[in-house]
Amino acid sequence: MVRLAVASATLLVVSKAYACTGPAVNQATVDLIAGFEGFSADVYDDPTGNPTIGYGHLCQLTGCSEIPYSIPLSEADGKSLLADDVISPQDCITTQTAASVTLNANQYGALVSWAYNVGCGNSGSSSLITRLNNGEDPQTVIAEELPLWNKSGGEVLPGLVRRRAAEVDLANTATSDPALPAGC
Ligand SMILES: *[C@@H]1O[C@H](CO)[C@@H](O)[C@H](O)[C@H]1NC(C)=O
Repeated sequence: MVRLAVASATLLVVSKAYACTGPAVNQATVDLIAGFEGFSADVYDDPTGNPTIGYGHLCQLTGCSEIPYSIPLSEADGKSLLADDVISPQDCITTQTAASVTLNANQYGALVSWAYNVGCGNSGSSSLITRLNNGEDPQTVIAEELPLWNKSGGEVLPGLVRRRAAEVDLANTATSDPALPAGC
């Protein structure tokens, strides 16, 4: 009995320190990301010249050979690929925000859409995350900071301006569904 208790206490500490899985985003967030990324069955170059497929999956290998789906991609496989790809930004937003940061499902979804777009390195070093972690009001921080992320390759892209506006709108949409803190 005692041994078991010790073992599970150890497990708890380990999972607290090293493994924190971000909650799954809500349907409004999946729809927002899919809508802005658009769907392509075949590999294409994104505005920055990165080979991309499906709903904005950045290819790691020539011809996107890392993905476990056949190309041309079906829309259903594209959705599965998006669900896989959104795990990383979910985890980033969850681990990069302090345990004191409270976000509802729409605020969290807006930030996951942004991190999916700009990458976890950029979200992690952003003043947006710093301000949240300093205890500033999420609504204010999101509305002020997200629209600044409107450039690709040094140029303002209308598509990014619209996407940031849609993310702010999502974050401003009231919901009683909680997302963060995730409790880890
Ligand atoms: C684009 O971002 C810059 C900051 O990088 C900001 O000053 C500007 O207002 C933004 N433009 C729009 C249309 O949001």
